[in-house]
Amino acid sequence: MKTVKLFWLFAVMILFSANVSAKHSGGDVNRLFILGGELSNSAATSVADIDEVMPRMAALGLNTVLVPAYWDLIEPVEGQYDWTLVDRVIDKARENRLQVVFLWFGVWKNSMSCYAPLWFKQDTRKYPRAMTQNGKPLEIASAFSEEVFQADCRVFTRLMKHLAAKDKGIGTVSMIQIENEIGMLEDARDHSPLAEKEYQKSGRGRYPATIEGDEQWMAEHYARYVERLAQVARRIYDVPLYVNAAMNSRGRKPGEYPSAGPLAHLAPIWKKYAPTVDILAPDIYDTGFKGWARQYALPDNPLFIPESRCCENSGVRALYAFGQFDALGFSPFAIDEAPAADTRHVTEAYRLIRQMKNYIVNARQKAWQKGHWQQENGQWGVLFDREDREEVISDGSVMLTCRHFFTLPWDARAKAEQWAEGGAIIHRMAENEYLIAGSGVVVEFKTKSEKQQEEQKVLGEDGFAEKGNAAKTSANGKRWTGRRLGIGYVDQVEIAADGTLKFIRRDNGDQDHQGRHARISVGEYKILHVKLYEY
Ligand code: DGJ
Repeated sequence: MKTVKLFWLFAVMILFSANVSAKHSGGDVNRLFILGGELSNSAATSVADIDEVMPRMAALGLNTVLVPAYWDLIEPVEGQYDWTLVDRVIDKARENRLQVVFLWFGVWKNSMSCYAPLWFKQDTRKYPRAMTQNGKPLEIASAFSEEVFQADCRVFTRLMKHLAAKDKGIGTVSMIQIENEIGMLEDARDHSPLAEKEYQKSGRGRYPATIEGDEQWMAEHYARYVERLAQVARRIYDVPLYVNAAMNSRGRKPGEYPSAGPLAHLAPIWKKYAPTVDILAPDIYDTGFKGWARQYALPDNPLFIPESRCCENSGVRALYAFGQFDALGFSPFAIDEAPAADTRHVTEAYRLIRQMKNYIVNARQKAWQKGHWQQENGQWGVLFDREDREEVISDGSVMLTCRHFFTLPWDARAKAEQWAEGGAIIHRMAENEYLIAGSGVVVEFKTKSEKQQEEQKVLGEDGFAEKGNAAKTSANGKRWTGRRLGIGYVDQVEIAADGTLKFIRRDNGDQDHQGRHARISVGEYKILHVKLYEY
């Protein structure tokens, strides 16, 4: 009986580990830890610009730069390849101890085919365009043309071979993005003659007769196209591969946003028809950062955010993505053009995330072993703004009430119409012991029973209740039961590369509201080590 049980145990373990490695076989995504920044579109089109920008990116504290590889500049004459820019990016990255993610600006960039070389653009007979339903040609090469695919694939193959020759065994290139924000515009699907032919042949098949169905059908064909490129890349140089998507925000309908790209609602189609692509990644510019991120942190899709508006909130958003979703990376867009007032927040947050790396990677591993990127693993991310200002985390018997810093009633900046966002990574080190790495947050710790018996109270900075508010702060007649959690100490710390904590200073007295909470002001970036005790 015992032997049989053991057999099944081993069988399940083997199956599970095979499943894990099958899901992420190519390109070891687990190794990715991208503190990134994406360059603005034209920033790497000359050697002089590359030379200028790369040291600047290193000085900002990035470990990875996302840089376009431009088809029009690589193959200005059909069949003749120029690797000057690609090589320069790699050389300068190495000089500055940076990793590179190349963005293949091939046939599609933000839906359009603007990065195709002129010889390709001009020959619309050989390289046909996608069309709207009423026959208007778009500056979008048709995904249904084998000639289009072959032209794209030829140069992409050369690119991958070139990267393999230059980088195999060194590993400066950590990932490849295939195309950029693929999607149909104006209509939900391509109506060009080639597309129509395919449509008649395969029909909508399993997709409904609606514009949503059109989008799904189109998504299948974009995914099939990308899959062929992904297989080429994988055979030549085995680095992780991803595709990025512009979000279908603000209730737009298919055709009104770049449709049929790797959007969350099309993820099952993209996963099915482009299985070699490791990651579907969201470009998050619109409001609702948390919601978009959540939709892409899936059991079969680790979260990587290749583009996000570079602003004063970028730092805390990065902390949230790593803390809550065990993200593989984060990258504000056009970081090379952003003012120092904004990039400062990226630099500060990355300084914390870099120190937290061991803890984050361990938590990520734990989650992934459970088969999901967001399993309970003793780590959380919080992100707050003026509207969304509180979250209660339940960690066994400990309740962590986390809030935006401006919920403390004494900071004059709280009166502003809009609040700079606050956020943090919260990591349980051991029982009753936490690390909080963040900015603009306050955290209270209570036992479950204490939280249930909690009464609403507003205390001033001095800890006094407001006049006439005393009754609210005293017992409500019922007898108190259970134990309470107190703060043993709150220390500001630095974390060494091996994970050990180095004491900077103690936050007691006014700095932890006489033992009531741990907090980090808006604009400050700190790691707090909180030790609790019960009484
Ligand atoms: C998303 C694209 O992927 C980028 O290349 C750039 O065009 C930005 N949008 C601009 O906001």
